Formats: sequence, C-alpha cells, structure tokens
Amino acid sequence: MLVLGIETSCDETAVALYKGGTGLLGHEIYSQANLHSNFGGIVPELAARDHARKIVPVITATCDSAGVDLVQDVDAVAFTAGPGLMGALLVGATFGRTLAWSLDVPALAVHHMEGHLLVALMAAGEVNFPFLALLVSGGHTLLLKAKALGEYEVLGESLDDAVGEAFDKTAKLLGLGYPGGARLAELATKGVTGRFEFPVPMATKPNLDFSFSGLKTHAMLQVRALEAEDALDDQARADVALAFQQAAIRALLLKCRRAIRQTHLQQLVVAGGVGANLALREALLAMAEAEGCTLYYPPTDLCTDNGAMIAYAGWLRLRNGEQSQLSVKVRARWPMSELRAPPKLA
Ligand code: KG4
Ligand code: ZN
Repeated sequence: MLVLGIETSCDETAVALYKGGTGLLGHEIYSQANLHSNFGGIVPELAARDHARKIVPVITATCDSAGVDLVQDVDAVAFTAGPGLMGALLVGATFGRTLAWSLDVPALAVHHMEGHLLVALMAAGEVNFPFLALLVSGGHTLLLKAKALGEYEVLGESLDDAVGEAFDKTAKLLGLGYPGGARLAELATKGVTGRFEFPVPMATKPNLDFSFSGLKTHAMLQVRALEAEDALDDQARADVALAFQQAAIRALLLKCRRAIRQTHLQQLVVAGGVGANLALREALLAMAEAEGCTLYYPPTDLCTDNGAMIAYAGWLRLRNGEQSQLSVKVRARWPMSELRAPPKLA
C-alpha cells in the first residue's frame, strides 16, 4: 500500500510517500521559517495562507522526485488532524480528505505526536511494543509508555513550557532569531563548561514531570546581569547557551532514567524537533547503554516536522483496518491518551 502523507500542523508544508514493504519513497519539506521570522514567532493566519499556497507544489514535487503518479499509484492519503494551529491544520486536512475522495482511496486522520513517535521506528521495520517514549517538540514534552499502537499512557509531561519552547525563548533572548532551538545548540558548541551553572528543573521532585519555564527565566536573569556589567559578548552568549542546554538535557535525562528503572522497559524512543539535538542524543545514548536499554531515534531530518511521520503512522493504522469518514475534524488540542487502537488491534 502506497500512502501519501500530508503535514501542515504548524509552519512546515511537508509531504511524503511511504510504501509498505519498500519504505520511504521520498519526502519534501517547505519551511515557512523566513515568513514568520520577522514577527519573532508564528503568525497563524499567515501560516494557513502559506500552506494553501504551497500544498499543491509540494505534493507535485514529492511525486515527481519519487517517480510516482499521484492518480495511478497512490493507495491512500494520510493527513495531520491535530494537535496544532486550527487554520493550518484545516488546509492540510481538507486538502488531503478531498484528494482521497477524488482519487477514490481511503483517507486517514493522523495525530501529529503519534507521527513523531512512530517515525523513530520506521527504519527499524516492525515496531515492538511496549516501549518508553520521550517526545520533545515546540509544543510538547511527554514521557510515555507506549503499550501498543494507539495505547499510550502519559507517565510525565511539562507543567509549563515545552522544552522546545524554552530553547526558542532562550535563543530569542540571545538574539538568535526564531525558531532558534537549532541555533542555540550550534552556539552551545562554542561555550565553556562550568562558567555558568543553571539549576536542573524538577530534579528533586520524585515524579516524572518536567518544568522548563524557570530555566528560561534563569537564562533571562543571567543575560540581564551580564548586560548590566557590559559583559554580554559572543563568548558569554555561548556560555549561557551551553549552561541552558546542559540543564535542560540533564532534566530530560534524569526523568528518562527514572522511567526506565520504574517500568523496567528496555527500549526508549526519542522523537520530536528537540530530538535533533546532538548533545541530547549523546547524553541519552550513554545513559541508555548504562541502563541496558536500547535507544531509538529518527534521522535528524525526520525529528522536526515532516511528511514521512504522517505517511508512516497513517500506513500503520490503515493496514490495521482504520479509515476516516468523509467529514473532516481537526483538533488544536488532542491528548495522546485519547487515541485508540485501530480496529484489527482493538
Ligand atoms: O517537532 P517540531 O518540528 O515541531 C513541533 O511539533 O513543535 O519541533 C520544533 C522544536 C522547536 O522548538 C525547535 O527550536 C526545536 O524543535 N529544535 C531544536 C533543535 N532542532 C529543532 N531544539 C534543540 N536543538 C536542536 N538541534
Ligand atoms: Zn512536531
């Protein structure tokens, strides 16, 4: 079964083709980052309009580069139905549902975070449940027990900012523009360890929850103190970036280790945009090895939003007997605990 996946939940118009038994045939991502950077954040109305402008060219480019004939070859269409920006979601979901109808093929509404979670396992082939998952993106910080396809127990989550949001806000503070998570990570490579020590959030709390807004405030106070001393030079910025990143990573690592020890699960999946952070990967890899746990993560280009995660999650559900109705429903908020197993697995 060849599935066309469409992702438009935020500021990337992304499309992919996934074929069962063969794998990913191709994927294209059009980023609106330049459009929103002047505003210091995503403007929802502009995001929706730009998705409407780019969705056909991105689908065409994906099919052309993969040598796929949209009308002849595509067996199903999967699209993101939430969580995300309402207007942005509506463009991709309405387009995807209508395309499936006009091609007379099944359609499937996909949960964005389930897409992030499952694409980490795409390269590994079959998914072996149960496993632990750390989902770290611009909108979510979730520690999950994935019991089966569609059965997710939330073990911990951020009580305030998502970790990606904290990276972006700290990056903005350091003058790195928006979205700045990857740029902050780049700057941190030039930082000197130990010049600044940031407190590790929630380290002493016995649960599996996270909190990142205090870390962001700590960074702000540190930057202000440096500014007051007229000492906020390039090296100081890099040192703040590193101290922030190290504390954020430590917080994620501590809770993952605790979850491994509590659940005795031997597989940890890391996904979502912040999963592209190399220092985080290295730290988690060392921890997982020490705990006798296998770490799975997607290739870097499939950590941030992409169409492959929607095509693959859609394919997994479609082959287990799930299909969406003709009417399109999108959800800005959609807790993962509300997901259900597809019919053949229920
Ligand atoms: O998954 P994603 O593309 O979109 C959402 O679903 O939110 O995640 C985007 C987030 C942003 O906050 C971005 O700054 C962050 O992931 N991010 C990173 C890195 N690359 C992207 N954060 C830290 N280090 C990176 N290398
Ligand atoms: Zn995402």
